[in-house]
Amino acid sequence: GEISATATLKADKPGAPISRYIYGQFSEHLGAGIYDGVWVGPDSKIPNVRGIRSDVVAALKDIKTPVIRWPGGCFADEYRWRDGIGPRDKRPSRKNNWWGGSPETNAFGTHEFMDFAEQVGADPYVSINVGSSNPTEMREWIEYMISPGDDTLAQERRANGRDKPFNLPFVGIGNESWGCGGEMTAEYYANEYRRFSAFFHKNDDNKAVRIASGANSFDVNWTDVVTKNAGKYMDAISLHYYTIPTGKWSKKGAATGFDKAAWGQTFAQTLRMDDLLKQHIAAMDKNDPSKRIGLYVDEWGTWYDVEPGTNPGHLYQLNTLRDGVLAAANFNIFHRYTDRVKMTNIAQTINVLQAMILTQGDKIVLTPTYYAYKMYVPFQDSTAIPLDVDAPEIDVAGTKIPAFNASAAKGKDGKTYVAVANMSPDDGVKLSVALGDLKAKSVSGQVLTADKMDAMNAFGVKPTVAPAPFKGGKIAGDKLTLDIPAKSVVVVALD
Ligand code: AHR
Repeated sequence: GEISATATLKADKPGAPISRYIYGQFSEHLGAGIYDGVWVGPDSKIPNVRGIRSDVVAALKDIKTPVIRWPGGCFADEYRWRDGIGPRDKRPSRKNNWWGGSPETNAFGTHEFMDFAEQVGADPYVSINVGSSNPTEMREWIEYMISPGDDTLAQERRANGRDKPFNLPFVGIGNESWGCGGEMTAEYYANEYRRFSAFFHKNDDNKAVRIASGANSFDVNWTDVVTKNAGKYMDAISLHYYTIPTGKWSKKGAATGFDKAAWGQTFAQTLRMDDLLKQHIAAMDKNDPSKRIGLYVDEWGTWYDVEPGTNPGHLYQLNTLRDGVLAAANFNIFHRYTDRVKMTNIAQTINVLQAMILTQGDKIVLTPTYYAYKMYVPFQDSTAIPLDVDAPEIDVAGTKIPAFNASAAKGKDGKTYVAVANMSPDDGVKLSVALGDLKAKSVSGQVLTADKMDAMNAFGVKPTVAPAPFKGGKIAGDKLTLDIPAKSVVVVALD
């Protein structure tokens, strides 16, 4: 069937800038996220530059990855930065206690991460250890990374092969400090945050944005207490929200082979992002009315049961059309709140949770989620344009969700972009958009869809769930019509 809907574009009332950092990534030392996923070592037969996979770098460049958060996640609050510098054959091997007890060789440390970010052209976002460390370790790691002087830490960095200070625009002070990062209360963490911030030395050498460890999903009290008690020492606070189809950690739901009921539940769960942002933003507006502090959703995405037969601590899951549509639905939500939401980082870039890329030996596969990022590149550093939509509610095997969501922006290239995530597994949407003052003559774009809800791309063959030219757009006078297929993402440019 087909659903008819209308929307109104308000090109005369531009909204907030949509930061490119909305399209950020998160890469933790977890499973094959770094080892195999990014790092193969300089002696590998897999093509690499200084040990870093060239195929992965090229793919991440192609989606203009703006920022990569590292080294965790839970891993960050157990990480000792000194383990990861100096000659690789001398680095200690540790146990990755959070993630399957797997060996952590420390072959990938600060220099390798910075090299990876530089090769991709992304800004590094380093999460430092608060939970099991102290302000001295933080201060020394930061000085090691950015000191331009002749002090011993700068000399040590030079001896390890890096003369110039590294670029360090983002530093996270703790991760999930309410849980794996130290089991702290909000009040206790706020005090810890203040103590760490005193030794952060934000100055001309260290201009990094200081990001406080944020709340777990709907724990708005955390955001309230931390921004109230320590807000003046931070530039941003994070927020984590994972989409779990069943809503239950014990049995989350499968990444593939799911039914329509699971599709509907997954979207209902993910769309909670809207209300979630509203609630946390309301708490921040109370404590920071000038909106100086950014809200960084620095972990989000789908979290399914791991693929059968894989290490449960490695969080390896496949990625289907559902994930691609879901990523777009979240982008459309983020675009509404960019006066406060200045960064998001999907969990996680490679081989972990809702990944952009899966690797298998020397092969990689680009996932439907990857292609959603690719289609939304024009939204990076654009300006939001309000788009009022009346999306009818649909019933997906017992769960009610809006049929679609959408967003619009004026791109850096001057074109207007409209994006739609059609969440209906069965019905196309005929969307009629009133363009108001916008004078546009042509519409062209791309569509991401497939026959099956759980269609995915396979290793070693041409991807089938990939953007294709979109032929369903028409402009007549001040009206745009889009004929959007079921379960799809459409992004069009109006010129
Ligand atoms: O992304 C996986 C884990 O989820 C992260 O390490 C942690 O911060 C969160 O609980």
